Amino acid sequence: MNAAKLSRYVVLVVGLVISAAGYASNNATHISDQVNKAIFQGWQVFSEACGSCHGDFGQGKIAPDLTQQIKTLSEEDFTRIVTNGKGLMPPWKANQEVMHNMRNMYRYLKARSNGVLQEGIPMKPR
Ligand code: HEC
Repeated sequence: MNAAKLSRYVVLVVGLVISAAGYASNNATHISDQVNKAIFQGWQVFSEACGSCHGDFGQGKIAPDLTQQIKTLSEEDFTRIVTNGKGLMPPWKANQEVMHNMRNMYRYLKARSNGVLQEGIPMKPR
């Protein structure tokens, strides 16, 4: 390979590396952008009220893994169970914050179950 060919080759490889890095960071931004305010708020309330039993990210602890359960649970059933309690789970109807964030918590758990959000503190939306 002569010098001119070699330098063109180097430029090509460097260009590929830079665009791959750009693609990776665009991807990360894309995922965090999907954490809108409603979902973030849902996580905050969920981790405070439900985390001690279900894990801060719904992954399960002494109570079931809700990222799995939510797949077959309609928003209506979720709301009914959370409002009135179930088995060893206490009812939440007297808790204004939980009641006002029912849909947000449901959306957070849906985002966890379909892989939009991983386990971990979600990035705060701008
Ligand atoms: C004191 C522990 C505790 C807390 C706090 C708690 N849960 Fe539970 N939860 C449970 C237990 C235990 C079950 C399983 C009940 C059963 O199946 O008998 C359960 C079940 C559920 C289910 C039903 C899952 C299914 O498919 O049957 C949902 C939905 C749920 N919890 C949501 C929540 C939400 C949302 C919060 C917070 C607002 C919360 N839980 C707080 C203990 C708790």
